[in-house]
Amino acid sequence: MKILVTGGLGFIGTHTVVELVNAGYDPIIIDDLSNSNIKMLDQLARIIGYKPAFYQFNLCNEADVKDFAAKNPDIAGIIHFAASKAVGESVENPLKYYYNNFFSLINLLNAYNGKALNFVFSSSCTVYGQPDVLPVTEDAPVKPAESPYGNTKQIAEEILKDMVAAGSKYKVIALRYFNPVGAHDSALIGELPNGVPQNLVPFITQTAIGKREKITVFGDKYNTPDGSCIRDYIHVVDLAKAHVAALKLMEKENFTGYDVFNIGTGNGSTVLEVIHAFEDATGVKLNYQIGAPRSGDIEKVWGNVTKSTEKLNWTAELNLSTMMASAWAWEKYIAENPL
Ligand code: WQD
Repeated sequence: MKILVTGGLGFIGTHTVVELVNAGYDPIIIDDLSNSNIKMLDQLARIIGYKPAFYQFNLCNEADVKDFAAKNPDIAGIIHFAASKAVGESVENPLKYYYNNFFSLINLLNAYNGKALNFVFSSSCTVYGQPDVLPVTEDAPVKPAESPYGNTKQIAEEILKDMVAAGSKYKVIALRYFNPVGAHDSALIGELPNGVPQNLVPFITQTAIGKREKITVFGDKYNTPDGSCIRDYIHVVDLAKAHVAALKLMEKENFTGYDVFNIGTGNGSTVLEVIHAFEDATGVKLNYQIGAPRSGDIEKVWGNVTKSTEKLNWTAELNLSTMMASAWAWEKYIAENPL
């Protein structure tokens, strides 16, 4: 079965393409290459044995989306990753985020409207803000977004729910990711941050390889065991497998409409625990300092993943040490083999 993967050359997209092929699906990639590298197609081919079908265009271009849908009417599902996703940038340039993240989604939904498609949406734990109760469950109140980026995820979920409620033939699953980290065990695909990494783990690996002088821990006075923030880090391969599980669930006759699942490990780790886990997993000592808290950061969040285990039939399997070791193997690979 053909599955359209928008943003399929990105960090999570490439890992999901691998797991789709492993599960016997035929992925078709659309990517505008605004935040990804065309050479990831060759890297994918070295893992799956062939170059997947690839189309380069931005989903905000309605004519391109309609043309693609007319030429590719026989897709069985869509996994929609394509979106702008930098929290800080979204605060500085909200219009870019509302334009890109909504027009791409709406054009896609319009182009295939009326077809009985299984639609997996890339959502985020940012919709919860700072939860009142931890671990956070899917029925926790969605709080006012901390950023325009988080707002686009919240509103996109509402758009999808409203479409289903209006009788659309789409079946929809939104996956609320916690913090995706790590890389495929081949070390041939991984995270390729543009410029200075905003996220913790790529900053750790770039410090370890010598590209960055030191890591700044953004605050150690939080109400947590060691004072640094807590997040639910999940291996990107486990995350990718959750997308296959979502397609499988929607292929079942008894699945109807819309559902949402937390995609995390159910465990929280502090920033300092992640740093020490990296050092223990790799033997590389990290240079870090404690700095001021980062504005917009929430103190602590980790997911209740009972619903994913019981209904999505998916559970994360890889631990923090494996996440760190795989992220390091990728950083070393890309340092020796720049794309
Ligand atoms: C993690 C922790 C930082 C860098 C973001 C997005 C979220 C999702 C995952 C898409 C925080 C601390 C970080 C550094 C640090 N992406 N940190 N020094 O902010 O939890 O989530 O990525 O869905 O939407 O918001 O991830 O990796 O930036 O930060 O101390 O140099 O590491 O303060 O506590 P975040 P992150």
